[in-house]
Amino acid sequence: MGQINVAVIVGSLRKDSFNRKLANAMIKLAPPELSFKLINIGDLPLYNQDDDKSQAPEVKRLKSEIAAADALMFVTPEYNRSMPGVLKNAIDHASRPYGESVWNGKPAGIIGISVGAIGTALAQQHLRNVLAYLDVPTMGQPEVFLQMKDGLFDADGGIGSDSKKFLQGWMDKYVAFLKKNITK
Ligand SMILES: Cc1cc2nc3c(=O)[nH]c(=O)nc-3n(C[C@H](O)[C@H](O)[C@H](O)COP(=O)(O)O)c2cc1C
Repeated sequence: MGQINVAVIVGSLRKDSFNRKLANAMIKLAPPELSFKLINIGDLPLYNQDDDKSQAPEVKRLKSEIAAADALMFVTPEYNRSMPGVLKNAIDHASRPYGESVWNGKPAGIIGISVGAIGTALAQQHLRNVLAYLDVPTMGQPEVFLQMKDGLFDADGGIGSDSKKFLQGWMDKYVAFLKKNITK
């Protein structure tokens, strides 16, 4: 199959975001045949349907980065039992104008970390609904609902020893899922 290009979309703009840390730590668990690009969603305007005919340069950039990717990895916090608005904003931008969505058919993995005990479960479930409509196949199992705790990340920004086996298992399944679902 050759190199697999994965667009990584982190649903937090916070400087010290645990989810961005998680994204970078997961990338370290991936085999060399996967290349990752972290997509900036913090510079996007608020979505306004009036702008569909003349999308902002930042939106065009987002769309070309997603279009160039073979696959997607969403790493998101949960805000008020759903996905953060900044993530939905980015998804909406890249889905428009009608008929020109760039999400179609790109397989996705979803993970997330929160300070709360349900570890982003509801945010991920809402995200799955949206991605189903956008024709993005999502890996169902294993699910990763992480609660932030000391030792989750090691001193080098990797996954700490307690969670490494579990998260390596997710990455291995994700790679197999991509190989089955990428159509290029
Ligand atoms: C507006 C807002 C709503 C939140 N709602 C939830 C929630 O519904 N469930 C949860 O587990 N944590 C919630 N949190 C706490 C987040 O888990 C925590 O802020 C986390 O650090 C966010 O991820 P980040 O570190 O990647 O920015 C919320 C935080 C904010 C700012």
